[in-house]
Amino acid sequence: MKPVIVRPFAAADLLGAARALVEVHETDGYPVEGVDDPQAWLRSEQVLAAWVAEADGVIVGHVAIMRPDGADAASLWIRQNGEDEAHVAVLARLFVLQAARGRATGRRLMAAAMGHALANNLRLVLDVMAKDVAAMRLYERLGWRKIGETTHRFGVGQTVPSVCYVAPNA
Ligand SMILES: CC(C)(COP(=O)(O)OP(=O)(O)OC[C@H]1O[C@@H](n2cnc3c(N)ncnc32)[C@H](O)[C@@H]1OP(=O)(O)O)[C@@H](O)C(=O)NCCC(=O)NCCS
Repeated sequence: MKPVIVRPFAAADLLGAARALVEVHETDGYPVEGVDDPQAWLRSEQVLAAWVAEADGVIVGHVAIMRPDGADAASLWIRQNGEDEAHVAVLARLFVLQAARGRATGRRLMAAAMGHALANNLRLVLDVMAKDVAAMRLYERLGWRKIGETTHRFGVGQTVPSVCYVAPNA
């Protein structure tokens, strides 16, 4: 198997990351909203930082840290703890191609994002759909703590159960 490199996202990665996202949507139904415009979904103005995993020139994974706007976990955490919104960010857009899984790529992408958050005094939170059990196992293995459950609304009146997590403090 080719070695996997995890590194900061560069503009030239956008097409490869969008391809990977479309493939993950086909295999896993992530994200539930669908991926009509994968490039816009990856590079919205809400993105503060992002990383990719690359194997032999192919983008096989991605993760981002985003502004808290609208994330259930962010408002829940701020309500529960009174934390200043300026110090809260959302870990999102995490995915790894099915063929590249089970080799700690997800864990390494998470470690890159968590290291960045620590260095920038940001408390990370996230929303995960309850169906995405592999992702929840990964978060809990890395010390993330469940802070609540909610309902994710999307499309025309569609809903799916989701779970909110907060990252460990250090
Ligand atoms: C969640 C996701 C990113 C995990 O990616 P990954 O690269 O497989 O993650 P890891 O390799 O770090 O961990 C996955 C499993 O492999 C195991 N593993 C990691 N390295 C390993 C190794 N060297 N040898 C054997 N097993 C290993 C882990 O223990 C873990 O096991 P578990 O699922 O039984 O708990 C991936 O499943 C995915 O993209 N899912 C669809 C999208 C999604 O749900 N995103 C979350 C949105 S909130």
